[in-house]
Amino acid sequence: MTEVKSIRGMNDLVPSDVGIWQKIENSIRSIFGSYGYDEIRFPLVEQTKLFTRTVGESTEIVSKEMYTFNDRSGNSVSLRPEGTAGCVRACLENNLLRVDSPRLWYMGPMFRYERPQKGRSRQFHQASAEVFGIKGPYIDVELMLMLSSLWKDLKVDSLIKLEINNIGNLEIRNEYKNQLQKFFKPFLKDFDKETLRTIKENPLRTLDSKSESLKNILHEAPKIVDYLDKESKSNFENLKELLDQSGLSFEVNERLVRGLDYYNSNVFEWRTKELGAQDAVCGGGRYDSLVELLGGKPCPAVGFSIGLERLVLITKDLLTEGKFSKPELDCFFICLTEKTFPSAILAAEKIRQRVPGINLKINLEATSANSQFKKADKSGARFALIVGEDELKDNTISFKDLRSKSEQDKLTLDQTIEKLIEIF
Ligand code: HAM
Repeated sequence: MTEVKSIRGMNDLVPSDVGIWQKIENSIRSIFGSYGYDEIRFPLVEQTKLFTRTVGESTEIVSKEMYTFNDRSGNSVSLRPEGTAGCVRACLENNLLRVDSPRLWYMGPMFRYERPQKGRSRQFHQASAEVFGIKGPYIDVELMLMLSSLWKDLKVDSLIKLEINNIGNLEIRNEYKNQLQKFFKPFLKDFDKETLRTIKENPLRTLDSKSESLKNILHEAPKIVDYLDKESKSNFENLKELLDQSGLSFEVNERLVRGLDYYNSNVFEWRTKELGAQDAVCGGGRYDSLVELLGGKPCPAVGFSIGLERLVLITKDLLTEGKFSKPELDCFFICLTEKTFPSAILAAEKIRQRVPGINLKINLEATSANSQFKKADKSGARFALIVGEDELKDNTISFKDLRSKSEQDKLTLDQTIEKLIEIF
């Protein structure tokens, strides 16, 4: 036990957990790559104003959940609570949007000071895609199809359902927000402080609020669909038609608004019933004004982020434990005395160089032969290579097949390598 504990909501992944993460990450890399998306990487820390300007000052993420601090020069910086803002900044700073319409992906940790629970942590991980320079809705459908391929590859497609909505352009949304606030006026005395704050500062979030007092009256509230501009309406109609044509099932959720200010037009979420309250596995939508907001030329854009902890949770439930365990060992190298360490290390290195792909682990603890053989068995390796005083003297390695009862052979290093090449 250590005296210095990890920070609440920031979790370790021990080696036995990592296998399933690697499987999911590999699937993501391979599927996003197969759609022609390129990886981009950008910092975990950005100037705070990047997020206040884009995600929005009144959103929960910015007003309550950011890890913000002054660096040693007194500049306000924040751990990234999401990646879209940083991605757009990186594209602008590196001139990626000038000549091309990049389709990008990234994966990594994000930080939000939320109350930790199942599927919710303070350091969590997202895998995201962002597309620039292409108007909706065809590219929006491509993103959804790409996600659907990923769910199928991970065999979770029956557990995740697509919900879509359209939240119109900025002017429409402002008008709609006013209408919502007007609608709530007669009920204000019934609400708690938190709800009153949401109505005042971020009225759209009342639509997907979990507050019972809000839920009871929301069915009578004005609907955003009745306020939509022409372009958003046709974007939404085309999106639905295309989804139908591509056989991707979806539900229209008129209450789906997303928790970040930069969205417009088509938005979507993939939800699961497997995780209780934290049911959103992936969220995204169009953000056609964000590039301009950060100083670029007008540039349509769309993207999504998958919450990897949540995807791991539902994938894990489906698959038998251990299926994604770490790569199996081929050889376990036993050194019987400390004196044998130098020649064993050099021999192991030669074997790795000459037998490509071999997984060989050397045991640098000169414990009894018995306990080292037990360790070799436990490691799952098929062969043991042994060097003791005798082998050291005649420059050989003992070679033992751990899965058969055959005697061990004494071989030179070259013979050992030849034998291993034959086998692997
Ligand atoms: P978001 O909806 O805030 O969107 O987050 C996307 C996903 O990240 C959520 O659906 C959820 O699965 C996961 N997530 C969020 N917070 C936590 C947490 N505290 N613990 C565990 N998982 C979490 C965005 O972040 C946008 N940047 C998505 C986007 C990209 N839109 C356009 N491009």
